[in-house]
Amino acid sequence: MGVLEQCVLLFLLHHFTCGYDFPEGIYSNAQYKFVKDPSLNIEKRSSLINKEFESPKYIRSKRSTDQEDCQSLQGFEAKLNNNTNQYAFNDLSGSVSLAWVGDGTGIILALTTFQVPIFMVRFGQSKLYRSANYGKSFQDVTNLINNTFIRSEFGIAVGPDNSGKVILTADVSGSLGSRIFISKDSGRSFEQLDLPFTPMFQISYNPRDANVLLAISNMNELWLSCDFGETWRKLHDMVCMFKWGMDKTIFFSTNLNGSCSDRGMLDLKKTTDFGKTIKTVATKIFSFGLGGKFLFASIMTGTGTMRRIHVSTNQGEDWDMAQLPPVGHEEFYSILAANDDMVFMHVDEPGDTGFGTIFVSDDRGTVYSKSLERHLYTTTGGDTDFTNVTSLRGVFITSILAEDNSVRSVVSFDQGGEWVPLQKPANSRCESTAKDPEQCSLHIHAAYSIAMRVNVPLLPLSEPNAVGLIMAHGSVGDAISVLVPDVFVSDDGGYTWLKALIGPHHYAILDSGGLLVAVESSTKPIKEIKFSTDEGQCWHTHKFTDDAIHFTGLASEPGAKSMNISLWGYRDNLLSQYWVSFTIDFKELLTNICEEKDYVQWLAHSDDISEPNDGCMLGYKEKFLRLRKDSVCQNGRDYEVNKQHTPCPCTLDDFLCDFGYYRKENSSECVEQDDLKGHVLEYCLQGKTEQLQTTGYRKIPGDKCEGGNQPLRKVIDLSTNCASELLTKEKQTVGRLSSSAPIVVGVIVVLLLSIVAAVLLIKKYVCGGRFLVHRYSVLQQHAEAQGDGEDEALDTNHTQGRNKYTFHDDSDEDLLE
Ligand SMILES: *[C@@H]1O[C@H](CO)[C@@H](O)[C@H](O)[C@H]1NC(C)=O
Ligand SMILES: *[C@@H]1O[C@H](CO)[C@@H](O)[C@H](O)[C@H]1NC(C)=O
Ligand SMILES: *[C@@H]1O[C@H](CO)[C@@H](O)[C@H](O)[C@H]1NC(C)=O
Ligand SMILES: *[C@@H]1O[C@H](CO)[C@@H](O)[C@H](O)[C@H]1NC(C)=O
Ligand SMILES: *[C@@H]1O[C@H](CO)[C@@H](O)[C@H](O)[C@H]1NC(C)=O
Ligand SMILES: *[C@@H]1O[C@H](CO)[C@@H](O)[C@H](O)[C@H]1NC(C)=O
Repeated sequence: MGVLEQCVLLFLLHHFTCGYDFPEGIYSNAQYKFVKDPSLNIEKRSSLINKEFESPKYIRSKRSTDQEDCQSLQGFEAKLNNNTNQYAFNDLSGSVSLAWVGDGTGIILALTTFQVPIFMVRFGQSKLYRSANYGKSFQDVTNLINNTFIRSEFGIAVGPDNSGKVILTADVSGSLGSRIFISKDSGRSFEQLDLPFTPMFQISYNPRDANVLLAISNMNELWLSCDFGETWRKLHDMVCMFKWGMDKTIFFSTNLNGSCSDRGMLDLKKTTDFGKTIKTVATKIFSFGLGGKFLFASIMTGTGTMRRIHVSTNQGEDWDMAQLPPVGHEEFYSILAANDDMVFMHVDEPGDTGFGTIFVSDDRGTVYSKSLERHLYTTTGGDTDFTNVTSLRGVFITSILAEDNSVRSVVSFDQGGEWVPLQKPANSRCESTAKDPEQCSLHIHAAYSIAMRVNVPLLPLSEPNAVGLIMAHGSVGDAISVLVPDVFVSDDGGYTWLKALIGPHHYAILDSGGLLVAVESSTKPIKEIKFSTDEGQCWHTHKFTDDAIHFTGLASEPGAKSMNISLWGYRDNLLSQYWVSFTIDFKELLTNICEEKDYVQWLAHSDDISEPNDGCMLGYKEKFLRLRKDSVCQNGRDYEVNKQHTPCPCTLDDFLCDFGYYRKENSSECVEQDDLKGHVLEYCLQGKTEQLQTTGYRKIPGDKCEGGNQPLRKVIDLSTNCASELLTKEKQTVGRLSSSAPIVVGVIVVLLLSIVAAVLLIKKYVCGGRFLVHRYSVLQQHAEAQGDGEDEALDTNHTQGRNKYTFHDDSDEDLLE
């Protein structure tokens, strides 16, 4: 049993992390899977990533006084006991998958599967349960799916936008086609449909129209249904991967007279009318991906085995080469995070190093700045600790592999401009292995530790509506430790941390951050749940049962608005193990609705409100109304984050140097690179004339500064500097426009040149870090030294021979999703 379940679980984790589905699909947001084997107890919300130690610069005052002596809450035991519901399943299955159907509906589907392999044939049985009261009770509705065996590794596909649509894929081995069960009424009834093909992965909803479905068959055919599965039409043969673009657009990679394993030989096609017309938008591609408004494709270079990222911001109509290093077939690119403004791109280092470099893009996706070197990202498992902290704008946490091969956590508060170690929590000591008993930092356990089988039951957790809050497992020392981790909480977006719970726990954020709950992760049966109403400073323990259960995981409605939490587990009963769930409703603990007096103002990214530019991040400040720590009240379901937005005056640090420009050492000014001609033609933007004009400066993506120190604006026509074949063709069509000499358009007044504590770019130089546009200067030196037309300045360390290592199937793929 153990081994079997392990496969299922690993498949699931893999599927969600480097998944086949672009994270737009809402259904992947609301799924949990629990298994009985305690060693595999990794609960995961599927929505889902060598510096010298610097003394902490980011010291933030606490919003309220820390009280070491926690006041005990009166009488919560009775209130919670009165609101605890137990549900025992008459079910012996090894695993259970949960899915929420719709927001605020309280509807949960639970699918259990029982599988035994008998002589290569899988024999299995599924049961389906449905709850309509946030998990307080369930109804066995297995009869609705005619007792058919459901492929649990496909999960439960819930449609987008509260559509109430659900798809379950049946495993009817032996027959030619396949069978699905669909529901249009949130799982109240199901309809059985036979498919003319066998799906290879879960069927995918159009994120904007739940009636439109796509699937790839096990023969690599792409199938479309526009009527929620009633009729299917084959769009194309030999399709390797597809993704939903804007509106009705479908992108897919294909190789008509080859196979999907001929990487680098694929065509990228798109259709905007559900297959009536299909257009090839790129050829010789290796992989493609979507992130925000950007479409990326890694395309083989003319000769050899290298490939480069190309980017399109108009759905594949025009492409520009991204100014990123090329990679060979043993390396990969990966989109770590992307929105409509910018993208974080990981570029793998040659050789099996386990690390690479993070680059951050400009608003066009073409010009990149180096953000973090030695970024940990294992090639084999595809594991990275990169985490977008969704509770505070601009904050990201990840891990680096230090020179001594230790793993260390770093945090950026300015969208990748600068990365620093995490501050040591005030209430914890450095591990005895630390060089200095006082100076060490906090290290966060995430996907990498889970892959290394450290006892980390959950990834770091943050929610957009629980402003500033982060819960994560960590250790305090010089590097990440293999010892048993503890739980740490930050209430200011990662600047300061508090050791909240000793040992590994499962945790959840409820009531928009007003309530935190945690359950110890233990191999022993448990009876207790812990909760905190003050953002993790004080914890109270509640005994929810007298008869302990083997705990497998917590489940609450996605979105952190709920006050109902379910504990899932099983009980031993003679030789069998029965599933059981406890659902606790905290409504009577927090009876009062929060009022104005319960909130205080909080300025994000700030430690000194009197300083006028304090708290400026990407050109603006945000003030939030946050719950006082000592308020015991409920935000409620209708709670909306209250924030005030004030623009900051610009400084040169609010700008990147554009293509063809670089920053001189120790200066914020962008200087034109005078020897572009003939040397870097592949970087010249291949787009239209207007895109080839630049002022040298571009706002950092998402930066909203106003007034202040604007850079001197001088528009230069770059096309005169570029001599690319593609461009020459372009020139013929656009004629005289592009051959004009540089035009001076205007001069903007330089208002004040106060160099405030630099946020982004310059600091990197001053602190000895690599400068963001470093690569421009490298290019220039190279051109000066050699004076020849080579464009290999970036290639030098990619050409060493490598001969080891066969790769895991998926590592040979760019994780462009
Ligand atoms: C428990 O709930 C019942 C009604 O559901 C109520 O009458 C009773 O007062 C509650 N007890 C406590 C201790 O809150
Ligand atoms: C169950 O199977 C029967 C016979 O194959 C079929 O008529 C019926 O529609 C099925 N019910 C569902 C809900 O699929
Ligand atoms: C692939 O097929 C197309 C037509 O479908 C044909 O034009 C082309 O020459 C073929 N390429 C190879 C390499 O066989
Ligand atoms: C990080 O998460 C926030 C909140 O969900 C989102 O608004 C932002 O676009 C994300 N950033 C990136 C680069 O993906
Ligand atoms: C908790 O569950 C009950 C149903 O049992 C529901 O009425 C209530 O709205 C839920 N509370 C929240 C905050 O979601
Ligand atoms: C830049 O600043 C650093 C540190 O202040 C200094 O060591 C270095 O010499 C400076 N470089 C130039 C070119 O001025």
